[in-house]
Amino acid sequence: MAVNVLVVNQKGGVGKTTFADEIAWGLTRRGVEVGFGNLDPQGGAVHEEGMLDAEDAVNVIDTPGFLSDNVAEWAANADVAVIPVQPGTLGLKPMKRTLRLVTQANPDLAVGIIVNNFSDRRVLDRQFLELLEADDLPVLGTVPTAEAFKQGTATGRSVVEINSNGKAAAAVEAIIDQIMEVTGHGE
Ligand SMILES: Nc1ncnc2c1ncn2[C@@H]1O[C@H](COP(=O)(O)OP(=O)(O)OP(=O)(O)O)[C@@H](O)[C@H]1O
Ligand SMILES: [Mg+2]
Repeated sequence: MAVNVLVVNQKGGVGKTTFADEIAWGLTRRGVEVGFGNLDPQGGAVHEEGMLDAEDAVNVIDTPGFLSDNVAEWAANADVAVIPVQPGTLGLKPMKRTLRLVTQANPDLAVGIIVNNFSDRRVLDRQFLELLEADDLPVLGTVPTAEAFKQGTATGRSVVEINSNGKAAAAVEAIIDQIMEVTGHGE
C-alpha cells in the first residue's frame, strides 16, 4: 500500500493546493514515486489526478476549502495529514477543528502544520507560532509570502525550480525533508 498524505484545512485559501503541488514536486525531486489525488471539485492543482498503489509510492491528496462531510472518511484512509494555516487568530479555530476531526477519524494519523505567509518580523506571526508550540501542535515549518508561488502555479513549476536560492525554496525544502521522514522515506 502507498502512503497517503492528505493536505487539509476546512478554511479556504490557506495554501492547500499550493502545498499539495509543492509536496508532490518535492518528493519527486527526491526520487519518490508520487501519485496525486484531487478531492476538490474546484481543483486548481497543477498535478493531474492519478493515485498509485505501489508499496513505496506516496499519494498527495488536495482537499476543498470547505467543511465536507467526507473529511472523516478521507482522514481514515490517510497516513499523514498536512494542515496549512495562515497566522492570525481567525484561522486558529478552523485549523483546530480540522485537526480534531481528522485525528478523531484516524488516531494513527501523523499530523503536521505548515504556517504559511509567515514573517518573523511580525510580532503577531511570532505570537501565533508560539501559541501553536505552547499547545504542542506539530509544526512542520513556516513559509514566507513569495511571488514565486503564484508564478509556480501559473507555469507548472515548484518554487524551488523558479528561485532555488530564495527563502520560499529553503522553507519548502525543509518541509519536504520532514515529510520524507514521516512517509518512511528518510535516511
Ligand atoms: N506563501 C505564499 N506566498 C504567496 N502566495 C501564496 C502563498 N501560499 C499560497 N499563495 C497563493 O494564495 C492563493 C491561495 O492558495 P491555495 O489555492 O493554495 O489555497 P487553498 O487552501 O488551496 O484554497 P481553497 O481552499 O480555495 O482550495 C493562491 O493564489 C496561491 O498562489
Ligand atoms: Mg485549493
